[in-house]
Amino acid sequence: MEHPPTAEATESHYFINNPPPKSLKSNVTLAREFIDRHAEIGRRVVLVTSGGTTVPLETQTVRYIDNFSAGTRGATSAEYFLQEGYAVIFLHRQFSLLPYSRHYSHNTRSFLDFMKEENGRVVVDEQHQEEMLRVLRQYTEAKRENKLLILSFVTITEYLWELREVAKLMQPLGPKALFYLAAAVSDFFVPHDRMVEHKIQSSEEFSQTNGNNGNSSGKPPAARTEGRSLVIDLEPVPKFLKQLVDGWAPEGMIVSFKLETDPSMLVRKAQYSLEKYAHHLVIGNLLMTRKWEVVFVSTMEGEKWIRVPRNRRTKSISGIESWVGRAAGANADSAEPARAE
Ligand code: PMT
Repeated sequence: MEHPPTAEATESHYFINNPPPKSLKSNVTLAREFIDRHAEIGRRVVLVTSGGTTVPLETQTVRYIDNFSAGTRGATSAEYFLQEGYAVIFLHRQFSLLPYSRHYSHNTRSFLDFMKEENGRVVVDEQHQEEMLRVLRQYTEAKRENKLLILSFVTITEYLWELREVAKLMQPLGPKALFYLAAAVSDFFVPHDRMVEHKIQSSEEFSQTNGNNGNSSGKPPAARTEGRSLVIDLEPVPKFLKQLVDGWAPEGMIVSFKLETDPSMLVRKAQYSLEKYAHHLVIGNLLMTRKWEVVFVSTMEGEKWIRVPRNRRTKSISGIESWVGRAAGANADSAEPARAE
């Protein structure tokens, strides 16, 4: 009888067969310097992941499958972690929301709407002065103290490579390392050796002429046209949360998120995740209500809902993140991490 592969075998198979992003080496250098600098002065470091990962269908990518996330949760959380005294590594989907600048980007209003002309110079409009000054001061302080490192990913494979390398670099921080995994991570993907090189043709005439648009592995392409239909055969992404908990960051505090659309599934799925991976906290949210309510599921405290009135949604987010920041801080200050066993 054949045994299922071990977690270690699954990990090495994935990372051998799906090459690292070109920027990995320079990002690792930046992250190492950043972590060492903060470790030296005993500062807590949080890795915040944010935004959705993509699954490219072609090596020279024209088409891809995306995961929902604007990056609001991650970018907002990063600000509150900085406020709570953390150094923040912000691993985000390229062009998704960033801490501080999120207040003025991806908006229905252009950032230019916050400006006006005065005596031939550009100045901030009076009604936005107070708020912008507050944001600017926080941003300047984070920059001055070198407390924010911004890294990016686009694809699922880029994300997983960066997560693994940064997590390993954070090991010496012990319980002063916090992982706050708000990114929406693809569950299915096209492995590198089943990806076609060129754009998949939609017209039957041309799809026949690029019929040998295969790959060097000789394996059947995961995405191909059959007649006039596009057929995509995705493979599951290994659940690397297990490796993060057991191998990459055994002493760190780990907070994962669970996004669902069916309310009856949310708490059950969060509990299942907590039992399966034995990490510290799962924060569950529903797509439609994620700005107003979340549920914290942990072994210590069971199920705890945090809700705020809908018209105070900015406050709601701040409440959630500063709670996690303080809880994680208390965890790092005690010698033992409060791991859910
Ligand atoms: O950015 P916003 O628009 O504000 O939206 C925020 C959000 C709704 C995206 C966020 O709050 C959220 O819920 N993020 C998690 C989305 C999700 O359900 O992820 P998941 O089910 O794919 O993964 C659950 C956890 O397992 C994640 O923490 C992930 O890091 C981890 N995982 C997932 C897949 C995988 N192969 N390995 C993993 O370890």
